[in-house]
Formats: sequence, C-alpha cells, structure tokens
Amino acid sequence: MEADPATGVTVAGTPVNESYQCPSQPMHPTLLEGHIPIAPPEGIPLWDIDPYAEETLLRLEEYYAELRERGALVYIPRYAVLACGRYRETREIFSDWKRFVSSRGVGLTDFKHAEPWRPPSLILEVDPPYHDRTRRVLVRALSARALESLKETLQRTAEKLIDELLEKGTFDAVPELAELYPTTVFPAAVGLQEVDTRRLVDYGAMTFNALGPDNELRRQSLARAAEVVPWITEQCRRERLRSEGFGGVVYAAADSGEITEEEAGMLVRSLLSAGIDTTITGLGNAVWCLAQNPESFQQLRADPSLARAAFEETLRLTSPVHTFCRTAAGDTQVGEHAIPQDAKILCVLGAANLDPEHWTEPARFDLTRKNRDHLAFGVGTHACVGQAVSKIESEAVLSAIARKVSSIELSATPKWRAGNAIHALESLPVTFRGA
Ligand code: HEM
Repeated sequence: MEADPATGVTVAGTPVNESYQCPSQPMHPTLLEGHIPIAPPEGIPLWDIDPYAEETLLRLEEYYAELRERGALVYIPRYAVLACGRYRETREIFSDWKRFVSSRGVGLTDFKHAEPWRPPSLILEVDPPYHDRTRRVLVRALSARALESLKETLQRTAEKLIDELLEKGTFDAVPELAELYPTTVFPAAVGLQEVDTRRLVDYGAMTFNALGPDNELRRQSLARAAEVVPWITEQCRRERLRSEGFGGVVYAAADSGEITEEEAGMLVRSLLSAGIDTTITGLGNAVWCLAQNPESFQQLRADPSLARAAFEETLRLTSPVHTFCRTAAGDTQVGEHAIPQDAKILCVLGAANLDPEHWTEPARFDLTRKNRDHLAFGVGTHACVGQAVSKIESEAVLSAIARKVSSIELSATPKWRAGNAIHALESLPVTFRGA
C-alpha cells in the first residue's frame, strides 16, 4: 500500500519500514526483529467482525456486549489482531507496560511495519524509561496549582455560555456547547494566541481516526492533514505561545535542559491532540446523559456539587475513547490465554466500562455509583495525564447548568458519529429552560 498522494501519509498495511526510528527515543528492542502477523492463537475464539466498520461504530454497545460474550480475548482475522473487552483483562493489559508496549503505536498500525502518519507522540507512544522524562514535564505543566489558577476563568466562561444558551432556548449542544467551551478555554490555558476552532477540532478527529485501519473515516480525516498539521505545529512553537500557559512550563523544561526544544514543541502538540476532542466528547455525552435521565438531572440540580460525579459516570457509561491498542513485547499469558509476541491487542475500554461482571446494572446512569476505577482515562503508566483538566472544565459547565437550567429536553433525535477511537455525538438538539 502506498502513501496517500494528497497527504504523504502512509497507512496500516504499508510494507515494513525497517528504517523507521522515533526521533528522540531509541527503538524498543522488539522493534528490531522481523514481523509475521500473528496467526489465530490456540484457544482464543475467532470472530469475523470489522470493529471499524461504520455499522459497528454506530452500534458500539451491541459490539461491546458480543465481544465480552465471546471470550476474554477474541481473534479478529480481518486485521490479524486480538481484542479484549472484559474489565479484568483490559485492566491487566493496560496496567503492564513491560509486557504490553505503547511504542509500537496505540492504534492498529504497528510502527514496526508501517511509518506512523506523523512523528509519534513523545508521551503516549513511547515506553518507560523514555516515557517518564516527558511525562514528568506534563505532570508539572498540569499541576494542581496551575489548574487552581484557572478555576475562576473556567467558571466565569461557563456561566456566560449557559446564559447565552438559555437565551437561545433550543440549540445543538455539540457545536454550540460541547465544542465551543473547550476550544475557548483550553487553547488559551495552553497559551495559544491564535485559536481556530475548526482546525483544532479537525486535528483531534485526525489524531484519533488515524488510530484505525485504512478506512474512509481515516482517509477523510487525514485528507485535512496537509493543511492542519503545519498550522498546529506553528502554534506550538515557543514564539507563538504566551509564556504563562501550560506551554510555557513545557518550554521552561527545555531551558533547563530536561528536554530538547523540539521535544517541547511536540509535547505541546500532544496537549492539543489529546486534550480537546476528548473533553468535547465527554461534555457532549454528559449533556446527553442528563437529557436521557431527568431524575438524575434533578438530583444534580438539588446538589450541584454532584457535577464531578455526573461527569465521571458519563465517562464510564459512554467511554469517549472507546479503544486504544497495545502490542505484546514477548510471548505472554493473560488469564488462561497464551498471547504470542507481536500480537496487537485492541483494548476496548468502552466494553470494559460496561462489563456486568464488574459493574452492577452497568447500563444505568447513577450519580451515586462508586466508579473511580472506570477505565475511560486508562490506567497504569499512561493513565490520562490531563484528566484533572477535563474534570475542572466539565465541572464548571455542569455545575453552571445545574444552577441555571431547570430542564433539558431533546428537541430532535440525537445522532452519534462513527469514530475509529472516539465515541461522540454528531448532533444533540436540546432545549434548555431557565430555573
Ligand atoms: C474526557 C476527557 C479525556 C479522556 C476520556 C481521556 C482519555 C485518555 C486515555 C484513555 C488515555 C490513556 C491512553 C493509553 O493508555 O494509551 C489518555 C492519555 C493521555 N491524555 Fe487524556 N483524556 C481526556 C482528556 C485529556 C486532556 C484534557 C488532556 C490534556 C490536558 C489529555 C492528555 C493526555 C495525554 C498527554 C495522554 C498520554 C499520557 C501518557 O501516555 O502518559 N487528556 N487520555
């Protein structure tokens, strides 16, 4: 398979690219060995499904249920990969970065065999010890103190937005609330001076759709790469950022020699690729959950401090990132199943978050549920480093809704959007009535 002439991007299935090396990390030792797509491992049931087909992605709950039902692991011949949808095994795989590496890509493309569409993320797509160095910098940039100083602005912006939406009454909560809020507050918090909502949203979609196979979704998203990627790269340069944002802290690490200038730019890019589409999706899904569950919404109105709980329960129930992959670094075992070296495993977080073996009445939206162990932010070394940011953003919006809105009604049927990794709404027409 050849590079897409429009974008120069290569896609899953591209012949082995032996010379590929991540710019700032030595290759993982296993990357040096030859590759054979894994054959169906003994004892693991075969399931002839395309998990990336539009009809699957638009009926994720059915796919999740059948995946869990068929076994702890299944083999999917179409892509010669394994998939895992039960809570216990998904957690085990995600928790062990030594056996299940991220440096061969957290999407379907195995970086050992195909060049990634862009230089890999220096945090998400690397393993320790390289990972620890970059992770430390982002943990510092997103510290509790940095977030505390944002709270007032987040709250003020949320109140203003909800007042404007109440004036409109009926609106589409995807573009007008879920997309608008994070793209207003987050790039500013990073320190971006130029904000182009469309490009930021498209860049997020590109990053996550690129985690799938060479399907229409991936091709359509990447068709914008030639225009959007240079713009994003430019916005992440030191000279383009205000020094007091998260980006400033990242570049300060370059000044002290902890990371290079080039790495700093790439880490700021990671914030933009991982921090916008995810929060947009979480917020949109939260409004959907509240519109579907009026008793829970009244519970939230009675006690707006439940805003955080409403967001966490939304994440468990709807898993904004439905799948991330890992690759087996060597022959290993999960439960009773032998997993061969080089196996790519689709870890279906959305299925694990609804596993009835782990959750009581998993399909019920319950603001009082003890759900801190949901996997929507991942778990282990790579657990979402920006989760506190998405929580304070969502808390600001949902608590403003709780105080100002008396009812949320669907004004037309909501539409879900197929995504290779993201489970988001395309449109959510609602009516807000004032309190
Ligand atoms: C609802 C919102 C969010 C969801 C559902 C989400 C989900 C996730 C998940 C599942 C992972 C683990 C990936 C893996 O193990 O392979 C992750 C990692 C990550 N997230 Fe988030 N995320 C959200 C918001 C954010 C925000 C706001 C930021 C930036 C401020 C962010 C930045 C990152 C980064 C940089 C990583 C990589 C961490 C590492 O590899 O050590 N995320 N996220």
